[in-house]
Amino acid sequence: MSSKQIQAVRGMNDVLPDEVHRWECFEDTVRAWLHGYGYRGIRMPILERTELFVRSIGEVTDIVEKEMYTFVDQLNQESLALRPEGTASCVRAAIEHNLLYGGAQRLWYWGPMFRHERPQKGRYRQFYQVGVEALGFAGPDIDAEQVVMCARLWRELGLDGIRLELNSLGSSDARARYRARLVKFLEQHHGALDEDSKRRLHANPLRVLDSKHPQMQELIREAPRMSDDLDEASLRHFEALQASLHTAGVTHEINPRLVRGLDYYNGTVFEWVTDRLGAQGTVCAGGRYDGLVEQIGGKPTPACGFAMGVERLLALMQHGGGLPAPRAPDVYLVHQGELADRFAERVAENLRDARVAVLLHCGGGSFKSQMKKADASGARFAIIVGDDEAAAGDVSLKPLRELAEQMRVSVAEAADIIRNGVTDDA
Ligand code: HAM
Repeated sequence: MSSKQIQAVRGMNDVLPDEVHRWECFEDTVRAWLHGYGYRGIRMPILERTELFVRSIGEVTDIVEKEMYTFVDQLNQESLALRPEGTASCVRAAIEHNLLYGGAQRLWYWGPMFRHERPQKGRYRQFYQVGVEALGFAGPDIDAEQVVMCARLWRELGLDGIRLELNSLGSSDARARYRARLVKFLEQHHGALDEDSKRRLHANPLRVLDSKHPQMQELIREAPRMSDDLDEASLRHFEALQASLHTAGVTHEINPRLVRGLDYYNGTVFEWVTDRLGAQGTVCAGGRYDGLVEQIGGKPTPACGFAMGVERLLALMQHGGGLPAPRAPDVYLVHQGELADRFAERVAENLRDARVAVLLHCGGGSFKSQMKKADASGARFAIIVGDDEAAAGDVSLKPLRELAEQMRVSVAEAADIIRNGVTDDA
């Protein structure tokens, strides 16, 4: 009797070999793009103390209230959480290792994040983010750099139809003023609030604006606008950012309801949104978080950053047909006979020394069946080794993707032809 199959945890995906190649191409583009803007990589652990996220993302947020994978470490009774995002960890690491003593830092990271959300297309419980954080920069120039660099990445990935939504949440004083006005308005319409919004009314009223509840949409449209309470400095900052974007040719819309789901933001916030992915259309989001470094125990340090959802961007690339074909080996090495089998193993290693990617046939079988596998592998060439070739110390090279004759050559010649299309002697 066979045992019951064990399946992956809901909302946590396997990335299969054909897809991994696409992920790698995406990663290559992203790495080169980040290098082009002077950002340096940083890697943080996946587990952090729960307190880090409570303090940074905020106690009354969906992420902390309902979505964190939290558990108590049995050994020391410490509460730990799988990271739901990277900003808090990145800031913690920068403080812990005194990175900011060396001046402002442009940092980036990449990796899995965990949120216990209801899974659907584009929304997973384990998902990957590329995160970009600039610590120690106060002016609108860094906000502009980050927005413009996103626009460049979309171009480099061949993506269009991603629009930019911008808002400013103002200084913490301005936010407090606006919060008071909003609470007054919401109290006046208490009867129209859904359950979640009632709960948030006093604990985190700005989040009411982010409610997706259909019953709330009209009320949200009528709510007071944050822009009416913006302080002078935030207004000037926001205008300077928009002027830079205008010069760079990056178009945007102002969305006065854009508040973001994490509490650490102030000033500029932005989201890149597409209509092509259904309900989960935000592919990248971020903004300023000038108070966070101090909140986590560092010196006051202005900062700005964003993160993008890798699965969503890859889905969008697939949508636009802009994905590379899976990568095949250069050579499939076919061999038969006792002498030939030993020789083939050496040939494969020699070819790899010459930077040729070789798939060495394993498991025996006739030449005919091995050649079928060579064809199916997508390799450009088959190398065929029988006892004849092994005795002579050379190989038969057969192009598989074009009409050309099989030829008998030395291993060095084979490597040249595979890499350059010709032998050095030719
Ligand atoms: P966030 O808006 O929570 O921001 O997430 C950023 C992006 O991650 C989203 O726009 C989306 O593309 C992707 N994402 C979020 N949740 C999921 C999910 N469940 N499944 C698939 N993709 C998802 C942050 O995380 C901030 N740390 C961004 C930031 C960096 N702000 C400043 N610096």
